[in-house]
Amino acid sequence: MSKDLTLLGVKGKIRGFKIEDYQEIVSLWKKVGLAEKGENTKEDLIEQQKVAKDLFLVYEVDGKIAGTVIGGWDGWRAWIYRIAVAPEYQRKGIGSKLILEITKRLSSKGGKRFRALIMSHNDPSKSMFQKTGFKLHEKIVLATKDDLCC
Ligand SMILES: CC(C)(COP(=O)(O)OP(=O)(O)OC[C@H]1O[C@@H](n2cnc3c(N)ncnc32)[C@H](O)[C@@H]1OP(=O)(O)O)[C@@H](O)C(=O)NCCC(=O)NCCS
Repeated sequence: MSKDLTLLGVKGKIRGFKIEDYQEIVSLWKKVGLAEKGENTKEDLIEQQKVAKDLFLVYEVDGKIAGTVIGGWDGWRAWIYRIAVAPEYQRKGIGSKLILEITKRLSSKGGKRFRALIMSHNDPSKSMFQKTGFKLHEKIVLATKDDLCC
C-alpha cells in the first residue's frame, strides 16, 4: 500500500521498503551521515524488514528514494529510527511527513510513548522533531553496549 503526496511541489509517495531498494538506501544513509561501521549489510536490512514489517518506509519521488524511516514497537515504547532525507529533497516537509506517518502506524499498534535518539549537535533533526510535537530532553544520557563483529 502506498500514499500519493504532494509536498511543496514535490509529488511523492510513502511505501514499504523492498529489498531492491538496498543500494539506494545505504547510499542515501551514507550521504547524510547515518551509516555506521559494521551495520547496514543487506542481511541486516532483510532482518529489519522481517521485524519491522509495515514499519520500514521509504518516500519515493519519480522512482527515486528521497527519504526513509523505520519504526520499532516493543510493546512498551515506540521508537523512530533512520529518519533521513536526501540532501536535494530536504526542507520540503518530507522528514515531517515520514514522522507523522510512522507515528500513526506505531499508534495503531498500541504505541503511546514515542521516542527517537538524536545527536545533541543535530539541530535540523531536533527542530524537525519539535515541530512535529516532540519534546527534547537534554538531561537524558544514552547507555550503549554493542556486539558488532567489525
Ligand atoms: C533531519 C532531516 C531528516 C530533516 O528532513 P527534512 O525533510 O529536511 O525536514 P522537514 O522539511 O520536514 O523540516 C521540518 C523542520 O525541521 C527543521 N529543519 C529541517 N532541516 C533544517 C536545517 N537544515 N536547518 C535548520 N532547521 C531545519 C525546520 O524547522 C523545518 O521546518 P521549516 O522548513 O518549516 O523551517 C534531514 O535534514 C536529514 O536527513 N538529515 C540527515 C540525517 C539525520 O540527521 N537524521 C536524523 C537522525 S536523528
